[in-house]
Amino acid sequence: MAAASATAAPARLPRHIAVIMDGNGRWAERRRRPRAVGHRAGARAVNVCIDFCLERGVEALTLFAFSSENWGRPEEEVGALMKLFLNALEREVDELHRRGVRVRFIGERERFGETIRKQMDAAEARTAGNARLHLTVAASYGGRWDIARAARALAEDVAAGRLAPEAIDEAALGARVCLADLPPPDLFIRTGGEMRISNFLLWQMAYTELWFTDLLWPELDAATLQRALDDYAGRERRFGLTGAQIAAPKSETAE
Ligand code: FPP
Repeated sequence: MAAASATAAPARLPRHIAVIMDGNGRWAERRRRPRAVGHRAGARAVNVCIDFCLERGVEALTLFAFSSENWGRPEEEVGALMKLFLNALEREVDELHRRGVRVRFIGERERFGETIRKQMDAAEARTAGNARLHLTVAASYGGRWDIARAARALAEDVAAGRLAPEAIDEAALGARVCLADLPPPDLFIRTGGEMRISNFLLWQMAYTELWFTDLLWPELDAATLQRALDDYAGRERRFGLTGAQIAAPKSETAE
């Protein structure tokens, strides 16, 4: 998919939705169940979200499944999440492939065990030719890690003589962060009631529309996602321009 520049256009259907799936733990705790039960319920909500994007024709969906910081959670919870990821990879990839979904992972893959890494590689290879929905799972991912990695890539290019320091600009860095081949997220959805970005796509979400709900991730349904889309459709995206500039077609504002 061609990466779109941040052009000012009336908001309609988001091309790319990024999601923080928060509230699994609280959902389980409210039912006096272990947190792992909440994560399993969360995995079901992932399918609700994918189905919705496929039905509506959203081109890209990026899910924050496990942050760089989540490694610090109790060993038992990290273990349960790893098991869940592995099960999902084993169970869901065939169906996703059949439905034309391209699956990719962003994050520090080397921190996962070999079995999961191999499954991730296999899922990516299997679905590489699909383009109906670009599903990216951010796992062991952090926005700061992403930007630091891109900065290191720039430094390596400069050190090797492939890039002049004065050629370093937003486009050069933007080409080296994750998801550089996708349009930036148009809409960010976070469940669970917290109003923060939590080190998700820090570079990519500079002009993303933010939408929050108190609903816990396992409670997600199509009606909630539709509310987010309706809200998004009513927003005026200005990208730093004025409302009048957005309203007037380009030819009218050109000198
Ligand atoms: C945040 O809720 C959620 C996570 C850290 C894990 C997200 C994982 C899933 C939704 C399950 C599987 C995902 C895939 C892609 C198969 P939390 O535990 O922080 O909830 P809390 O804020 O209520 O404690």
